[in-house]
Formats: sequence, C-alpha cells, structure tokens
Amino acid sequence: MKEKTAFSWVWSYVRKYRFGMAAGLFLSVIVAAMNMVNPLVTGSIVDKVIKGGQHELLFKLIAIMLGVVVGKSIFRYSYQVIFEHCSQNVILKMREDLYAHIQKLDFSWYDNAPSGNVMTLLTSDLDKVRHFVAWVLYQILENSLIYIFSIITLASINWKLTLAFLVIAPPVLLLVKKFKVHIRPAHMRVRDQFAVLNTRVGENIEGNRVVKAFVRENYETERFEKENEGYRDVSVANADMRVKFMPWIDALCQVLPVILILFGGYLVINNEMTIGQLVTFNGLMWAFIQPINMFGNLVDNTQNFGASADRLFELYKAEPKIKNTTEAENSAEGTVEKTSIEGRVEFRNVCFAYNETPVIKDMSFVIEPGTTVGILGPTGSGKSTIANLMCRYYDADSGQILIDGKDVREYNLQELRRNVGITMQEAFLFSDTVEGNIAFAKTDASFEDVENAAELARVKEFIGDLTDGYDTIVGERGVGLSGGQKQRIALARLFLADPKIMILDDTTSAVDNDTEYKIRQSIKSRSEGHTAFIISHRVSSFENCDVILVIQDGQIIDKGSHQELISRDGYYHDVWAEQAGK
Ligand SMILES: Nc1ncnc2c1ncn2[C@@H]1O[C@H](COP(=O)(O)OP(=O)(O)OP(=O)(O)O)[C@@H](O)[C@H]1O
Ligand SMILES: [Mg+2]
Repeated sequence: MKEKTAFSWVWSYVRKYRFGMAAGLFLSVIVAAMNMVNPLVTGSIVDKVIKGGQHELLFKLIAIMLGVVVGKSIFRYSYQVIFEHCSQNVILKMREDLYAHIQKLDFSWYDNAPSGNVMTLLTSDLDKVRHFVAWVLYQILENSLIYIFSIITLASINWKLTLAFLVIAPPVLLLVKKFKVHIRPAHMRVRDQFAVLNTRVGENIEGNRVVKAFVRENYETERFEKENEGYRDVSVANADMRVKFMPWIDALCQVLPVILILFGGYLVINNEMTIGQLVTFNGLMWAFIQPINMFGNLVDNTQNFGASADRLFELYKAEPKIKNTTEAENSAEGTVEKTSIEGRVEFRNVCFAYNETPVIKDMSFVIEPGTTVGILGPTGSGKSTIANLMCRYYDADSGQILIDGKDVREYNLQELRRNVGITMQEAFLFSDTVEGNIAFAKTDASFEDVENAAELARVKEFIGDLTDGYDTIVGERGVGLSGGQKQRIALARLFLADPKIMILDDTTSAVDNDTEYKIRQSIKSRSEGHTAFIISHRVSSFENCDVILVIQDGQIIDKGSHQELISRDGYYHDVWAEQAGK
C-alpha cells in the first residue's frame, strides 16, 4: 500500500466534501472566465460605438457589463460560502479525530510531548489547514485560470503583444521557485517556536504559585522574553524572506504597462491593432499582473499549510506503544464491561526502565486475591512504577505481570483498567463540581452512590464547609481545596469505581493522622474481597496490611507482616522506629 503523506491525509478529510468543493471550483472557473468579458466589451465600445458610430449598441453593451458585474458577485459569494462551509467541517472532523487520537496515546508519549505543542497543533496549525481549504485552494485555481484565459483572449486579439507580455513569466517562475525552497523551513521554524512559546505560557500559568513563592516573576519574565524574542526573530526572518522576493516580482510586473504603451502603441500606429483592442489589453493587464503577484503569496500560503499539515500528520502518525493485541481488541466488542476477576497479581522476573536506567530490576512476587499489600520504600525506589506497570501504563521490558494468571498484555486495556484502579500520587481534579469529579469514575452513578463513596473517603467531613456542597466547582486542578481534601475526593472517585484491584499511591500523604486513621478503616471495609495495594511512606498506613513489600532501588529487599518486619533489623524497622519514636 502506498504510504500516506500529509497531503493525502488532509485529502482523506476533504474528499467527503469533494462534490461541494467541485461545485465551488466550477463557479470559480466561471468567475475567472467572466473577468474577460468587460475588457472585451470596453474595447467594443471604443471601436464600435465611439469610433464606429453604432450608438444603438451602447445600452446593450452596458447592460452586458452590468450583468457580468452582478453575476460575478453572486457566483463569488456562493463559492466563498461553499468553501468556508466545507473547510469548517473538514477542520471539525480533523480536530475531533486528532483529539480522539491523543486520548489513545500512552504515558510515554505524554512524557515527551510538551502540552504547548499539542495546543498549538489543535488550534493554530489546524487553522492553517482551514485557511488552505477555505481560501488558498480556489485562489490557486482562479488565478491560474484568469492568467490562462487572459493569455487566450489577448492572443486571439494580438499574439505579438501577448508574447511580449509573456517575457516576464520565466524570471517570475525562477524567483518563485527559489522562494518556495526557502520559505517552507522558515514557516516550520515559526510554527515550532510558536509551540515553545505556548508551552512556556502554559507552564507559567500552571506553576504560578511556585513562581510567586520563590519570587521568580522577573526570572520567568526574562525566560519568556527569550522565547518571545526567539519567536520575533524567526517571524522576522520569515517576513524578510518574503520582502526580499516580492519586490522583484512586483518590479517585473511594472514592466507590463511600459510594454503596453511602447509596443502596443507601435502596433496601433502600424495599423496592426485598433485603439479599442489596445483598451482591451489595458483592461486585461490586471489579469496578467494579479496572478503573478498572487503567485508568490499563494506559494507562501501553500508552504505554510504544508508545514502545518506535516506537523499535524506527525501527531496523527504517533502510535501508542501500549495497545490491545488483536485478540483482546476482538474479544471486546463495543464497550467493555467490568469482568469479574479474582484479583491475583503476579510479577515474574520483571525488569523495566523508563529510558536507559533500570528502575525495576528482576522483580518477582505473588499476591493472592483478597490480600491487602503494603509497599514501603525510599523515594524514587520504584513504588509508583510498580503501580504503573500493573495498570499497564508502561510495558515491562522483560518478564511478565500476570493478573489471575493472564499476562496484562493479553487483556483488553479498558477491561484491565476497569479492574485495576488507582489513585495517583498527584491527585488531579477537573474543573467541575465535587460530585462531577467523583462521578467521573462512573458517569451513571446515582447521587446516593456518590455520597456513599464520599462518606467512605471522608469527603463528607468537609463538604459542609464548601459554599455549594457537592455542587461546588473546584477550579482547574482543584484550586480552592487543600491537598488532603483533593486526595480524599480522588479516593472517593476510586471507591465509586470499585475495581477488584485497588492501588492507593500515597493517597493519604497530605491528611492528618486522625483522618488517616478513619480513612484506613474505610479502606479496610472497602478492600474486603478486593486486592489492595497501599503505597506509603507512613508505617501507620500498613496497619491492616496482610503483607508488606519493602522496596529499595527497584528490588524487593524484604517482605512480611508488620510484626515480622519490625522484629528484624532493616529498612522497615528503621522507618518504624523513627516514626513511632522508639
Ligand atoms: N515518567 C518517567 N520518566 C522517566 N523516569 C521516571 C518517570 N517516572 C519515574 N521515573 C524515575 O523512576 C524512578 C522510580 O520512580 P517512582 O515514581 O516509581 O518512585 P517512587 O518509589 O514512587 O517514589 P516516591 O516515593 O517519591 O513516590 C525514579 O528514579 C524516577 O526518577
Ligand atoms: Mg511514587
């Protein structure tokens, strides 16, 4: 199969509107042809009415001219509406598809994708495509046709003068060819730098509290200025390129009136042409000049579109590494319902590295269904990574992770993730109500369900303090709530989802001891019949754990119940002694 290019990818969207577009292009052909009429009629007025004395023709000729003007306006209006309509629909679908596509991309893609770039792609790059479909496309056709029609029309009147007009064509072509080579990379640089600028703004807004806390406003402003200046520089370089080429094209066009007067005048004197024909030439001179002037502009626009289409196509081509096997995909037709799994988890010689440095090293363990497992280890030891692997956010480099004896890679991803649920270390809340944030886990949940989950996660204890209770909008990233409150809402979300295997990654790190104790009781009641993993730095969190894994440097260095672990020397004992003040 022929490999898809950026252009054919765009075409696959435009194709759907090909009939509408064809109708629009047809109208633009008519308009281009109509452009020839009035200069011809003007010539006739000079030759037949003024010089030939056929005065009765005047009204007829003027009526034709008026008719052409009105017709042109109507046709022009019609095809512009058509193209605008088509282009907006094309972009709607493209944006929809790309948005759905980035939902499928996995963690490792997001690890390397600056958010500003994605934003730029979905807004300004897409707009370049829209502009191409809505305007550039028909401008190319219309201008080419105006140029060709004017050559034909004028050549039929006088081929010598037409030929003289054409002498400027080769140098213009050469200039535009050179321009084209240089302008595309210049556009690419502008788009890339624009994305960098967007990322900088996004990060600054997101991190504005940190900026203020460290009094780094000036530093941030300077950093922004640097990128901003970078953007100006690439834009200026881009504009320079244009202004360098355009005056040459313009100057070449200025030669035409001179040719008209000198050579045209000579032909009239020699009786090879009438005055009326000279007037027609004069009237159609714009039809020679406008396409040439537009030529550079359209090539510029096309290259700009090309650069954006390439960037968008790049996003479209990005493939998630984590995806369903064909069987898993086929086994889950339509939406995947939660399947009843037992909840047995096994790591079999698992090795994993995000990049080069190994993070999980030959890890093996078996957790029987219904067990509550604690995971303790120094920061950076790989605890969250274990969770990431269980949910299949990343795939192990070697070894196997098995749920109920089946490799996680053989599960349908949705099915797997409905059964292995997690509250992430950094609680994320959407700009939505508290209820909406909890119900995110299960959109068809009743308010009672949401309330029950909220009660279990101890959200109920502070909900009364919020102005609108469950209807309080928690801002972007849950601003307006304390760290512990956010964590509890995130926990309620997991409780509502009620997956068979629950992973709580440092979920109570920001709550006080008393609340943590209460949450522990909730987890205990909730984890009945579930397999639960509790990742924590607090030994007290492991109170109800059947077994605790002690992780260091990507390996399990110890394992046992709380009593067993404190009875022997080691990391666990040290942490416990320190926290309990022994
Ligand atoms: N997305 C990532 N890309 C590259 N490296 C990563 C990524 N996430 C984590 N790491 C690295 O992997 C190692 C283990 O990280 P992990 O988040 O699993 O630690 P952790 O035990 O959960 O620590 P903490 O107790 O601080 O939460 C760290 O050295 C970390 O720098
Ligand atoms: Mg972690």
